[in-house]
Amino acid sequence: MHAITSPPTPLPPLPSADGVWEHLRPMPGALADAAIQATDISLVVQQGQIAWIGATSALPATYADLPRFNGGGALLTPGLVDCHTHLVYGGQRSNEFAMRLAGASYEAVAQAGGGIVASVRATREADEDTLFALAAGRLEALLAEGVCAIEIKSGYGLALEHERKQLRVARRLGEAYGVTVRTTFLGAHALPPEYAHRSQDYIDLVCQQMLPTLADEGLVDAVDVFCERIGFSLAQTEQVFQAAKALGLPVKLHAEQLSDMGGAAVAARYGALSCDHIEHLSDEGIAAMKQAGTVAVLLPGAYYTLRDTHLPPIQALRDAGVPMAVSTDHNPGTSPALSLLLMANMACTLFRLTVPEALAGITCHAARALGLQETHGTLGVGRPANFVLWNVADAAELAYWFGHRPVRAVVRQGRIATR
Ligand code: NIG
Ligand code: FE
Repeated sequence: MHAITSPPTPLPPLPSADGVWEHLRPMPGALADAAIQATDISLVVQQGQIAWIGATSALPATYADLPRFNGGGALLTPGLVDCHTHLVYGGQRSNEFAMRLAGASYEAVAQAGGGIVASVRATREADEDTLFALAAGRLEALLAEGVCAIEIKSGYGLALEHERKQLRVARRLGEAYGVTVRTTFLGAHALPPEYAHRSQDYIDLVCQQMLPTLADEGLVDAVDVFCERIGFSLAQTEQVFQAAKALGLPVKLHAEQLSDMGGAAVAARYGALSCDHIEHLSDEGIAAMKQAGTVAVLLPGAYYTLRDTHLPPIQALRDAGVPMAVSTDHNPGTSPALSLLLMANMACTLFRLTVPEALAGITCHAARALGLQETHGTLGVGRPANFVLWNVADAAELAYWFGHRPVRAVVRQGRIATR
């Protein structure tokens, strides 16, 4: 990989979106205030926040002199939320794609020295500016499609300085691009080679040194674990959750992706924001998640890439009323996906979500999976102005097209990001 030595150039400031955005057609479920029934609505942005929202015919006269942006009947959605990504890493793993096509399983690739630890090597070798530049390109693809909030995990450093590097890059991306970034510490993603056969020593390091240090540096918004046969045990997962709890940090879990480890129920006991993947989730896991208000994060990109055939229990989650989010799980191994709309499409075609479920999955439920439901994922007064105007006749088109980006305009953090 070639090194980028100069620091990333600051991006030019984006134009302010302050003014009246009129003649918009809200996607069903887009507005925090369900009492607003109008199909022609306007939205007032002042100082980067939504100051008013309602029927265009009811726009208060006080806003009459503000700049006007005519939406021309465009579909309006909240800014999209990508609630599970591993966006910051060095290298890429197309070689494993070939290995799997030749018949190797994800677990076999990992056992052969590939998998997560292959990305760990490349990430450790890269400096912070290189990682920033690599991740910035990926982030730009997601932002162009209307993403206004994104979760970024660590977990390819697996040592204090390298996990720090990933999390710092995540924070810098948020500042440089004016996008809400939630960082998740995933030190318990895989066993680093220097801890081979000493997984308990590594988990002790994660809990006693890495997590408290990085939390103290303000780099950690949530804590995650890869609880799996090829990841960490249930007891180790719980140890990390206890360390998170002691620091007042919310938890999430890579749960029941390849087998039913019972991780979701444990995560729910710790009030987890979300349990993610969950192809092998049990009825007990579902009941525990429902009780705790934990979001089920569906990751069709990983399911597709691994040519998995074990579907997550969608109907049981639906029957139980567990909110379902949909995310890219962008990572170099199992989901090199850079389109959240494609994930909505795949959640419908592969997992049989309804279109409204898939659209809620990339907006309001994704926001909930990050603990951002009061500010993101639906549109309401007092929230930051994050919204997207779409060139579509029907909201269903957002999950229908693939390889197409029908964006008309993106307003992100009160700035016109795409027009
Ligand atoms: O979410 N399951 C573990 N973590 C990632 C895969 C990471 C990798 O293979 O690099 C996931 O699918
Ligand atoms: Fe993941």
